[in-house]
Amino acid sequence: MTELIQVKNPATGEVIQEVKIDTEKEIYEALKRGNNYFQEWRNVNAYERSRLLKSWSQKIHDNKEKIAEVMTLESGKPLQESLGEVNYATSYIDWYAEEAKRLYGRTIPAASETKRIIVSKQPVGLVAAITPWNFPAAMMTRKAAPALAAGCTFIVKPAEETPLTTMKLVELAHEIGIPENAVQVINGRGSEVGPLFTESDFVRKITFTGSTPVGKSLIKNSADTVKHVSMELGGHAPLIVAEDAEIDVAVDQTIASKFRNAGQTCICANRVIVHDSITEEFVGKLTEKINKLKVGNGLKKDTQVGPVINEKGYDKIVSQINDAIDQGAEVLCGNRYDADKEQGYFFVHPTVLQHVDLDMKIMHEETFGPVIPITLFHDIDQAIEIANNTPFGLAAYFFTDNYKIGTYLHDHLDFGVIGWNDGAPSAAQAPFGGMKESGLGREGGVEGIEPYLETKYLSVGGL
Ligand code: SIN
Repeated sequence: MTELIQVKNPATGEVIQEVKIDTEKEIYEALKRGNNYFQEWRNVNAYERSRLLKSWSQKIHDNKEKIAEVMTLESGKPLQESLGEVNYATSYIDWYAEEAKRLYGRTIPAASETKRIIVSKQPVGLVAAITPWNFPAAMMTRKAAPALAAGCTFIVKPAEETPLTTMKLVELAHEIGIPENAVQVINGRGSEVGPLFTESDFVRKITFTGSTPVGKSLIKNSADTVKHVSMELGGHAPLIVAEDAEIDVAVDQTIASKFRNAGQTCICANRVIVHDSITEEFVGKLTEKINKLKVGNGLKKDTQVGPVINEKGYDKIVSQINDAIDQGAEVLCGNRYDADKEQGYFFVHPTVLQHVDLDMKIMHEETFGPVIPITLFHDIDQAIEIANNTPFGLAAYFFTDNYKIGTYLHDHLDFGVIGWNDGAPSAAQAPFGGMKESGLGREGGVEGIEPYLETKYLSVGGL
């Protein structure tokens, strides 16, 4: 019997489309095709792979309005953000189209005149990717583009909530001539597809963006076949506002970081740590602007904050807010909801909480929602201690115009991505990824293609 995934609009709860779940046999066949085709794709000239990637990027760009609309329908994010994500997604393809031509090896002086030492790079093989619902285009292309550029074949399983954007991107890849077996999409439930990927001998690398518990189990399950793994996992970003920060910049960038995709990003500020001497001004300006944010269906032109993705996400956010209030936090704005469990839509109005203390759930769990908890510090080392007091290490932000404090914070914060007076640090040319339980490996930049390459060393003797 054919099993279907119902793709729903999180702004209304309506079913947009039904998507067929691939059977175990179909997934096996797809992996086999990807693995077989690897022997051909790896030999396609780097300039040809680069040309194909560029034309894929152009094709996506030509269809960006359509893709953005599909993205908003299935993910709920405001249309402007979806358009922004399409551009962000193509920026990875453009970057790696260039990197395809720069997969340099090297020669090393040997200790004997009769020898030569040569190091070269080669693609790891078939890559299996599992991508999240919060960035259905960009998280796919920042894996697919370096994989294809390196000469790997690629198969992706998008999140059950948002398969349509990814399916469209793969369709466009085929339309411009990237071979069907070089890039494939399959659909299914993560708990079922994950083991099929990790146990398969056809797959040489697993790349995943999503929660830390799922990432840990993918790492464990990849051990038996010793696969390469790249993991972009959960975050719990601190955002520190120092005594001398430019308050208006800090306010705008906090809003940019926190309310992008309704707070459903791994890198968004999750704990705002403010110097006690400037709290009143910072909090006053912040809540004034937040109160003006328009919450609604992402298809409406003026919407700035869309719905959260589903009931599970909503329940987690509400429970963190209630826990904080029960333990004495004060609500400065928000704590309002427009949700209907029967219909299946969930809006959380942007919420700011102050008098938050470190024992509250919100200060040690990732929220994935539009909520700002504010805690205070007096001494910069205290701010660093609060910031680092988490098993996560993805992103951190700080605001200061004092270069000594900024440099000190940079040196002491244990996070892979840091924004200094910047709430939007992501960029295709920069290495994105986390320390500690936030992940393994980096995506973007020159670092982002390395995980798709093996290093081969040749020793030539008898010369
Ligand atoms: C994420 O936080 O899930 C990715 C966000 C980004 O690439 O900016």
